[in-house]
Amino acid sequence: MRRKLVVGNWKMNGSLATNASLLAGIAEGLGENSAYCAVCAPAPYLAQCQALLSGSEIGWGAQDVSAHAAGAYTGEVSASMLADVGCGYVIVGHSERRAYHGESSELVANKTVAALEAGLTPIVCVGETLAEREAGQTSAVVAGQLQAVLDAIGERMSDIVIAYEPVWAIGTGKTATPAMAQEVHQQLRAQLAGQNKEAAEAVQILYGGSMKPDNAAELMAQPDIDGGLIGGAALKASDFLAIIAAGSAPDQ
Ligand code: 13P
Repeated sequence: MRRKLVVGNWKMNGSLATNASLLAGIAEGLGENSAYCAVCAPAPYLAQCQALLSGSEIGWGAQDVSAHAAGAYTGEVSASMLADVGCGYVIVGHSERRAYHGESSELVANKTVAALEAGLTPIVCVGETLAEREAGQTSAVVAGQLQAVLDAIGERMSDIVIAYEPVWAIGTGKTATPAMAQEVHQQLRAQLAGQNKEAAEAVQILYGGSMKPDNAAELMAQPDIDGGLIGGAALKASDFLAIIAAGSAPDQ
């Protein structure tokens, strides 16, 4: 069985003081059979994560990465730099980057390759907009986004995590119903299986979009939902811990 993974995407939030208290709160409340958990912090706070989380059970990483290895790319951060400071994860292709920074599926695929080459675990985000869902294009949109990545990474499918985040559910309080989310997750896993059946069974596919303590258990009970990528609710230790608990193995 795939162990659940709950990742907090802090987006552009936090400060040294609030991060420290959030991380202390999470560390204090983690249970014995907890789901895997991680936080993805803004770049200036990765050093703080390194100082506070190295050797802890809480994984950590970045929210974006350059597709380039090094050189004259002002403002960008390379995958090898993220690995150098100790990141384990990096989010790639978040819908906010696709929408506000014009990231194409091809660029997202290149970023995924860069992350893998540096030894990071890329969390590859896919998801449809409301207009796309209403036009009946959900399947085609997410399949196209995933295929661009699969074509680029070749045999390395089992080294990525996928996050299905319907754009209309992000930060809106509107969650996909468990059945709606499961339908897309099942489709994504079938697409993976089309390339490598065994690897497809091991890939963690997270759901993201207004996942909260009160809906997390039902979502994560779906057979192909292997955890969550959490925005707003990851900024409060008690909420984040409740979501982690919802994905944790029952006590023995
Ligand atoms: P919310 O949980 O705030 O809806 O954000 C989801 C998200 O975008 C995580 O990457």
